[in-house]
Amino acid sequence: MYKVLITRKLPGKWVHELSQEAEVELWEEDYPPPKSWIISRVADKEGILVTLTERVDREIIDSAKRLKVISTYSVGVDHIDVAYAKERNIKVTYTPEVLTDATADLIFGLLIAVARRIVEGDKVIRAGQWSLPWFPTYMLGKEVNHSTLGILGMGRIGQAVLKRAKGFDMRVIYHSRKRHEVEAEFVDLDTLLRESDFLVVTVDLNKETYHLLDYEKLSKLKRTAFLINASRGAVINQQDLVKILKENKIAGAALDVFEKEPIDKDDPLIQFPNVVLTPHLGSATVETRERMAEIAVKNLILSLKGERPLYEVT
Ligand code: DGY
Repeated sequence: MYKVLITRKLPGKWVHELSQEAEVELWEEDYPPPKSWIISRVADKEGILVTLTERVDREIIDSAKRLKVISTYSVGVDHIDVAYAKERNIKVTYTPEVLTDATADLIFGLLIAVARRIVEGDKVIRAGQWSLPWFPTYMLGKEVNHSTLGILGMGRIGQAVLKRAKGFDMRVIYHSRKRHEVEAEFVDLDTLLRESDFLVVTVDLNKETYHLLDYEKLSKLKRTAFLINASRGAVINQQDLVKILKENKIAGAALDVFEKEPIDKDDPLIQFPNVVLTPHLGSATVETRERMAEIAVKNLILSLKGERPLYEVT
């Protein structure tokens, strides 16, 4: 039997299925295992299944003497030293596609929530502050339809956001490493920043995109623009974003991801009424999280058997 380490309980039947073919050692908690827990158990494992909160660095990879595959239960792979794993001839597999629609739905939800002040409105009612009957200038937001959506990154999630934007008759512009055959105009980054009413970040986090949106870049956004991020927090320099919000240089932001997760209870972002915050929920639907478990487990088994996994990071 194969020996496998899994760093988190997964929804559905998939870990049970895996245990028919492999000896599984499982971290049972909902919080991440300490690195020492992984290191002390990984030496004889042929496969490990991790989530995005476990940093699989050289130290872990070097402690794993028999490792053939690192299967991550995520589309992002910024927590794994992929180059070093490859050097060591270890496959890295991931779970794209299955979470594309759920993530694009959340992005659109955030976009509408911040544009139409949905969360603010909810808070007003709960705080007993809805004191006047309807009047024409109360809590006005920004029209979503016919506005310009800028998408930074045009991978699977970017394209799924584009599809939704079409239903809202939005003009869509995008910037990404390469051009795509999509119904949207490719523009340079400056134009994207200058022309977007809503800027949606969908790029992966890597050396090139780390703090890509810093003070200088964010200053190029319109004062009426909204920033939406459900990719990785560190694509945006969060301190710079706070500064931009304090200076009222943009109209608002909707963020599902942060440089540090969970964010601190006194994080300055919490003070802004024009900022919508969600706790990294992009793929958080019952259906998607189960499908991710299926793919992560299948990737692991196929790789252990020497077969081609469903999704390998190349
Ligand atoms: C991922 O998979 O990388 C998302 O951030 C969480 O689903």
